[in-house]
Amino acid sequence: MLRLSLPHIDEAAIAAVAGVLRSGQLVQGAEGAAFEAELQRWLGTRHAVLVSSGTAALHLALVALGIGPGDAVLVPDFTFPATGNVVRLVGARPVLVDVDAASCCVTPAALQQAIEGWRGPERLRALMPVHEFGYPLDMAAVNALAARHGLAVVEDAACAIGARCGERLAGTLGAIGCFSLHPRKTLTTGEGGVLVTDDDALARRLRRLRNHGIERGETGLVFHETGYNLRLTDMQAALGRAQLPQLAAWLEARRALALRYRDALAPLEARGLLALPAVHAGHSWQTFMVVLADGIDCAAVIRALAGQGIEVNLGAQCLSALPSFADVAAASSVARRLYAQGLALPFCEQYGEAEVARVAAALGAALAAARGPIHAR
Ligand SMILES: Cc1ncc(COP(=O)(O)O)c(C=O)c1O
Repeated sequence: MLRLSLPHIDEAAIAAVAGVLRSGQLVQGAEGAAFEAELQRWLGTRHAVLVSSGTAALHLALVALGIGPGDAVLVPDFTFPATGNVVRLVGARPVLVDVDAASCCVTPAALQQAIEGWRGPERLRALMPVHEFGYPLDMAAVNALAARHGLAVVEDAACAIGARCGERLAGTLGAIGCFSLHPRKTLTTGEGGVLVTDDDALARRLRRLRNHGIERGETGLVFHETGYNLRLTDMQAALGRAQLPQLAAWLEARRALALRYRDALAPLEARGLLALPAVHAGHSWQTFMVVLADGIDCAAVIRALAGQGIEVNLGAQCLSALPSFADVAAASSVARRLYAQGLALPFCEQYGEAEVARVAAALGAALAAARGPIHAR
């Protein structure tokens, strides 16, 4: 089976994890602290706070910013549902904003329209833009908009480690940025997440909240507030540390693979069978999603490719189309189409010419077969 993506774990990474297992210090040891320091350097932020998942990072960001009942947060309608779920989990209301078809992200113009159209009764407190699949948002415009309206910005950069917004990296430009370290992401600790911020007080609060509200005082542990247990283990941190020095090269390989895919699939786009994702020099290409033409049955294409030993899947979800968000209104025609027709192709830095050629040939055949009956009708 050609998998959708493969985690990149070499023997050195396995040895690093084994070293932690032999050390007897499995949590809150030197590995976690070292990984945080290395992430701070790599990302260029004052603080990096490791947690147990990307969802935990987003959740903790909202808690630390004091967002809760009576508040509303703008969230893209096309994302992984965790982005909207965490707003609900703190008791606030997610307000869904449609996305742009080419980038799969919200645009500053759509955010502005949603802000200006907001009539409450909840108080609009924050924006949670998503750098979907690693596409870097125009954060200068997003931050200017947020500043004008007194809103906090929590960047969902779950998929976007290494994406470049001009001179800076995605995730480092809002009040807090959140990354996922899940195995579908370029850098993975199995499960894991990281929050970054330049705000010392916020970082202190985040560290406290992830660990039962504890800070170390002169006489021992002080439980300052009600917190969570969202800690990452040292085995996971060791895994991340072993990968981080290779991340820049992996991102370059992904950028090259995206261009290779675009060349191979251009004839299918020219025939009107699919649309290719937008290229941006700073894209980190966590996922390569094509959008099949209307009328092509996406599920049938997924089955046909599985029959050829190729794993493909939906790209992301349209939240307002899900039963769990049935009570949230949104007129998101683009998000609905991306959810229905989006197809994520096998993609990771270990893949190259042979995999792209195999996927392009199988996808071409599946699309020709899927379109046949529609034209015959
Ligand atoms: C945009 C987005 N936000 C949040 C998450 C949640 O991350 P995790 O799976 O690490 O909890 C994901 C995971 O795929 C995601 O794609």
